[in-house]
Order: sequence, then C-alpha cells, then structure tokens
Amino acid sequence: MPLAPASQIHWNFRIVLCIAAITFFEYMAVQYYFSVSGTDIEAIKFAMRSTARFSCLIFCVTFCLGPAHKLWANATTQALLQWRRYIGVCFASVHSVHVWLIIFLFWVTPKIDLAANIPVPIYELLLGGGALVLMYLMVATSFDRVTRIVGIRNWRRLHVIGMYSIWAIFLFCFGEGYLSATTEELRSRAPMGLSPVIFYHPFLFLTLLPVVMRLWLLVRRSA
Ligand code: HEM
Repeated sequence: MPLAPASQIHWNFRIVLCIAAITFFEYMAVQYYFSVSGTDIEAIKFAMRSTARFSCLIFCVTFCLGPAHKLWANATTQALLQWRRYIGVCFASVHSVHVWLIIFLFWVTPKIDLAANIPVPIYELLLGGGALVLMYLMVATSFDRVTRIVGIRNWRRLHVIGMYSIWAIFLFCFGEGYLSATTEELRSRAPMGLSPVIFYHPFLFLTLLPVVMRLWLLVRRSA
C-alpha cells in the first residue's frame, strides 16, 4: 500500500506465496491454541488479542517506512520503501485471521438473545468494520492496473484515510484496553504470567511510533 513512488518490484508468485505462508502459519498457530485450550469465548478473545498484536507489528512497519525514508534517506530505507506495498498487503492478509476470529466469536456466542449477548459494543463493530472495509479496498487497489482505473488522487486519498483509520483503531484498542482494565484484569489478559506492562506498553509505543516520526519530520522541516 505505498503512498510514495511506484514500486520497481512487481507482483510475482514468490511474493504471493510468502504472504500466504505467513498467514497460514498464524492460522495454524491459532488452531493449535484452540486444540489445547478449547474454544470458549475467553480463549477466542485471547486469540484475537494475540492476532491483533501480530498484525500491529506488520502494520507499524508499513506505516513507518514512508517517514523513515524521509528522515534517513539511504539505500536501505529506499529498498524497504520498494517493499511497502507487499508488506501492507501482508498486513491485510494476516489481519484476516482476526476477521475470521470475529466471525467465529459471533458464531459461538449463544444465538438466543444475540442482542443481549453481543460480544462487542455496537460502536466498536461499526468503527472496526469500517476500517476493515477500507483495508480490503486498499488491497484491491494495490495493483497497478486498478490504481490507473481509480486514478492516482483517489488512490492516494483512500490510502491516507485507510491507514490513519486502521492506526486509530489500533491506538483505541490498546489505549482503551490498557486504561479501562484494572491491574488484575490486565494480569489475566497477559499470557504465561507475563507482566501486563510488557503486554501493553510496547504495543502502545509501537502504535504511536509512525505518528511520532511524522511529527518529527514536520518539526525538522519547519526548523
Ligand atoms: C481494522 C480493524 C481492527 C483493528 C485494527 C483491530 C485491532 C484490535 C486490537 C489491537 C485488539 C487487542 C486489544 C487488547 O489487547 O485489549 C483487538 C481485539 C479485539 N477485537 Fe479487533 N480490530 C479491528 C476490527 C475489529 C472488529 C470489526 C471487531 C468486531 C466487532 C473486533 C473485535 C475484537 C474483539 C472481540 C477483541 C478482543 C477484545 C477483548 O479481549 O476483550 N475487532 N482488536
């Protein structure tokens, strides 16, 4: 999902295979976890938190590459920038495991009186759902031919709005999870007895990083 110059690298079988393999690996890891822990609502939510974290790593790399190249223009950042489109599509592919878990969560939630048992607040469903629609639209426009049809200005608008929307959902989820949970709740969310600080702080920091880098760029330009 590049926001900058067209990539010199083109879609090929190896790139598609690599993205499919990473997604499959994550899907199998979730299946293995379910085979060990069962598929009650808490287990599904734990899997959702874990898959969201994995997606967040890939998303933040994608979102940092633009400002990183502007801050430190060199051969490495230039080469990485060439891969941004594929890393972005890899994020969407990997995040589809989170989407599968959303469907699964609604599926296992008791069908009787679904409104009372809705597993997430309705506003989260709408905001998160909207960001997911934008994510898949960005994937659909990640092919040169489609980009030409859509037009570069619309394409750019879609990708800027989409990236910031997804970023906002990550920030909201980690921020809300961290701020609203009591320490005891946080402790139960962190796996394998890890400190909840380790479980939440790095991801909040990571999510803020792409925007901090953009602000730094602005400050440097205006200095
Ligand atoms: C681009 C869209 C989305 C992003 C970036 C995203 C991101 C996240 C993140 C970061 C977490 C972890 C929160 C934590 O650790 O406390 C999470 C968990 C979760 N997400 Fe998503 N999400 C998205 C869409 C959705 C949608 C549409 C739904 C369905 C309504 C959803 C349902 C959930 C649920 C149920 C959890 C587990 C919450 C818990 O542990 O109680 N997500 N998501």
